[in-house]
Amino acid sequence: MIPIDFTDKTVLVTGGAGFVGSNVVSRIVRTGGRVIVLDDLFTGSLDNIDSDIPYEFVEGSVSDYELVRGLMARSDFVAHLAARNIIISTRNPIEDYRSNIGGTLNILMAARETKPNRIVYTSSASIYGNPRILPIMEDETPLTFSPYSVSKLAGENYCYAFYETFYVPAAVVRYSNIFGPKQNPANPYCGVISKFIRAIDRGETPQIHGDGHQTRDFTYVDDAVDATLSALLSPRAEGMVFNIGTGTETSILDIVRTLSEIFGRELVCEHIDRRDIDNIRRRVLNIERIRTRLRWQPQVTFREGLRRTVEWYRTIKPEAG
Ligand SMILES: NC(=O)c1ccc[n+]([C@@H]2O[C@H](COP(=O)([O-])OP(=O)(O)OC[C@H]3O[C@@H](n4cnc5c(N)ncnc54)[C@H](O)[C@@H]3O)[C@@H](O)[C@H]2O)c1
Repeated sequence: MIPIDFTDKTVLVTGGAGFVGSNVVSRIVRTGGRVIVLDDLFTGSLDNIDSDIPYEFVEGSVSDYELVRGLMARSDFVAHLAARNIIISTRNPIEDYRSNIGGTLNILMAARETKPNRIVYTSSASIYGNPRILPIMEDETPLTFSPYSVSKLAGENYCYAFYETFYVPAAVVRYSNIFGPKQNPANPYCGVISKFIRAIDRGETPQIHGDGHQTRDFTYVDDAVDATLSALLSPRAEGMVFNIGTGTETSILDIVRTLSEIFGRELVCEHIDRRDIDNIRRRVLNIERIRTRLRWQPQVTFREGLRRTVEWYRTIKPEAG
């Protein structure tokens, strides 16, 4: 992997009070950088950001162009993570449109004036829908099944368009399901992991939507952060899109089995109806492009990531969700 070093650099992290964003903030500050967090605290919280690190916080929305432009004028890089999540987006597509599409367009428009070294836009593997071939490669045809995946793909397309037309140095990372410390059980992407841990910790029966054979490519958050920051720093990332995952398919029943081992007891689950957002059956990503181009590959196994997440949960016991 390329060295992660932000000495004397300022990074605007949109959505920096969220799950992944707060982990990004810590890593940048701990590698010598200054961070400006722009977050409207819609799903995020300042409690997510490590209390022992310095950072500047601005409460506001990426939908506010003047605010975005002013902050970008003071930044060398932009890590753009702010977004309404799939649940909010399904409930209110207009709100998703304003934040996810409008916010991304604002950042790209402002970049034409402020000329950052790089913008990394965090997209989602949800744009693949139910893919024809597994593991999924970046040039698989997108199949947008939800308003959320429509807006995430639109953000990507704006990045390519601004790169090609206006030379805005953007790169796109497509996250698969990310899990780890600071993830609120209400977070819909991997809420399943934090919800299971919370249920087991409370002595309740974990609930599985559907038969449990649905699969995802679960990625530990530290690995996703490293991939994102590599895309921010590497000259080989400009204008590119990268899958961020592990290449390993894990089912919901596999999660239960691994948690049983970690907790040292047999877990019994209750199967309940699938939700309207559960329309993807299988997902696993091909990560060859980022492995060869940026020399990034995941370092934390699923079991080890789960163990660290359980340990974090036991110390913090997040209440929300
Ligand atoms: N976590 C995953 O597994 C996953 C998977 C695919 C894609 N992603 C993408 O990664 C990014 C981060 O996801 P996360 O899991 O940390 O979610 P999160 O909800 O924890 O973080 C999103 C942050 O953005 C903030 N935000 C939302 N709308 C905003 C707006 N209009 N202006 C300013 N701030 C706003 C929220 O308050 C929150 O702090 C998102 O762009 C998401 O689409 C995440």
